[in-house]
Amino acid sequence: MWKVQAVAHPTIGIVLLGGLKDQVDRLPYHSSAGIAYSLMERESVARTTMEIGTERESVIINGTAIDSLDSRSPMKIIKKYEEMFRTKYGKGNVSIISDNENILSGSSDAGAAALGKCIEASIGVDPLELELEMRKVSESAGRSYYGGLTITYGGARPYTKKILDSRSFDDIVILSAVFPHKRKPSDDIHTNQPRHEYYKKRMENAEKAVKILEKLAYERNVKGIFELAMDDTEDYHYMNSLVGVQIVTPEMRKLMDKIREWRSEMWMTYIVTGGNSVFLPTMKENKDEIRRRLENYTGEIYELRVAEGARIISL
Ligand code: MEV
Repeated sequence: MWKVQAVAHPTIGIVLLGGLKDQVDRLPYHSSAGIAYSLMERESVARTTMEIGTERESVIINGTAIDSLDSRSPMKIIKKYEEMFRTKYGKGNVSIISDNENILSGSSDAGAAALGKCIEASIGVDPLELELEMRKVSESAGRSYYGGLTITYGGARPYTKKILDSRSFDDIVILSAVFPHKRKPSDDIHTNQPRHEYYKKRMENAEKAVKILEKLAYERNVKGIFELAMDDTEDYHYMNSLVGVQIVTPEMRKLMDKIREWRSEMWMTYIVTGGNSVFLPTMKENKDEIRRRLENYTGEIYELRVAEGARIISL
């Protein structure tokens, strides 16, 4: 039996993805961008162990057995490489155990990327092809696999490219202000956005944002990157409002408006992706003051950093 363990970090969008033209392969209509993140004090990861040559196939995620027929089951990726496992290890059966540690949101990206890393270590596959497999489980797996700041280019064969290392964000902290309501499934966004006439404009805006982001990353303009993310958050949730998908609640909007005011005193921006958090990137030296102010808006606040890509823990 052959065993490998890998970890990968969850992600946050910078140029946000909305709309999938293929719900099975989870192919995007447009380019997008994101960062991998971790809690500042404890590592946020999906930890995945893969064993090749087991008696029976199984997938256990956070202690729960997953039906391999489930549309987004990691077994889908495994099936693709079964023959290669059999050729190299004599047996094709695989079992996967994956646990999320300190993850606020984006656990499926991290789980898919950690599994991708295990597969790469066991049979050495082409990363472009591997990404197309990982995205069947999570369309943002590439962000987690490469880490730092990445762009995922759209088109017939989408692929992700890392444009800045996590170290470039060493002076930044991202405060996460979590609001106490349940998040909506991202597929509400993905199915509804493309139905509206504004979607054409949204796709153009995302492509333009990605081009600007390439330049900002080249210049290592970290503040500029988060300014761009804030503008993109506004465009994305304007699009969502047109199709009746409300992610930004009145409480979250109140805080976002306040952040706009605070920006005249010290640098900070905001990002809202598909969940119930307002992410607030700022310089580390502003952290305590802003945290104190955020406490008037929510009791649940986390400190995050930009994290590196997926890595092997043991072989
Ligand atoms: C989920 O596929 C996409 C969102 O999280 C936005 C993003 O992170 O790009 C809703």
